[in-house]
Amino acid sequence: MTTRRLTEHLPFGEKRDPRFFGQDILSVSQFDREDLETIFEVAHEMYGMVERIGTFDLLKGKVLTNLFYEPSTRTSSSFVAAIERLGGSVVQINNVTYSSVSKGETLQDTVKTMESYTDAIVLRHPEKGSAALAAAAASKPVINAGDGPGEHPTQALLDAYTIREEMGAIDGLTITMLGDLKYGRTVHSLAKLLTLYDVKINYVSPDILQMPELLVKEVDAAGIDQYETTDLDDVLADTDVLYVTRIQKERFENPNEYDMVKDSYVITPETLTMAKESMIVMHPLPRVGEIATEVDNDPRAAYFRQMEYGMYVRMALLALVLGRA
Ligand code: CP
Repeated sequence: MTTRRLTEHLPFGEKRDPRFFGQDILSVSQFDREDLETIFEVAHEMYGMVERIGTFDLLKGKVLTNLFYEPSTRTSSSFVAAIERLGGSVVQINNVTYSSVSKGETLQDTVKTMESYTDAIVLRHPEKGSAALAAAAASKPVINAGDGPGEHPTQALLDAYTIREEMGAIDGLTITMLGDLKYGRTVHSLAKLLTLYDVKINYVSPDILQMPELLVKEVDAAGIDQYETTDLDDVLADTDVLYVTRIQKERFENPNEYDMVKDSYVITPETLTMAKESMIVMHPLPRVGEIATEVDNDPRAAYFRQMEYGMYVRMALLALVLGRA
């Protein structure tokens, strides 16, 4: 007699979607549109649960490492809030000077150490490719929280979710990215992610901070209409989403070059008089003067709401990666 198992018996509360369960999150390129719909649906449920009960036990017993080699306020603290709202806990290493990294420990050894204590690792590191390096060394999921000028995939997911929630849909929109497009990992990830949608993308930056050519080619190959200019006025009136970024002083080798471009664009209430009433202004934050604080009270200023959406998206990702969504 042969026997076969009719149902897979998973530990209580476990629901494993093979697209996400146990997977690293390294680049937006790993997702298709169906994956995004799943993440957004789960994020929406998380929003409802937080509204209704605040904290619940979906990830009770799970422990996350937050390993940050670069400063962060939003990404770091929203992952802490996300795991804690899901009933899990976190080991926080955000000042590597006080860890064995200061004794010369490699990223790989640090990651191997942390995976022996915890169930997943969120990593921010100043070098492009570092998240992939860590993931190759680890057997538990690594989530890229920004690898130098490389990518910031969870930011792009929350950005896309913000656009969808605020505008009702992503298809059909004109999205203008402004500021540091050369080093800005958030715009690199977002531009790639938007290739899954029917959008037009405008790039507005000083000449020395243009979107990398390789990325423009990649977006072009997906059939996306792109336009590049140094002057916001060329595109503002047609823009549905104005995505502003900080000129990142820390990425410049030559401080004189930073001084030349640091004040290139400042969004003020006057700027918004030229924009659609339905337009939204986004920013991954932090800002250092590129959006005047007087803009904050305009209903089109979506950047603080964007931060909150980020926690729901990160809750969704943790639940999916740890097998309980
Ligand atoms: N948007 C973002 O990555 O912000 P932090 O640097 O504060 O994490």
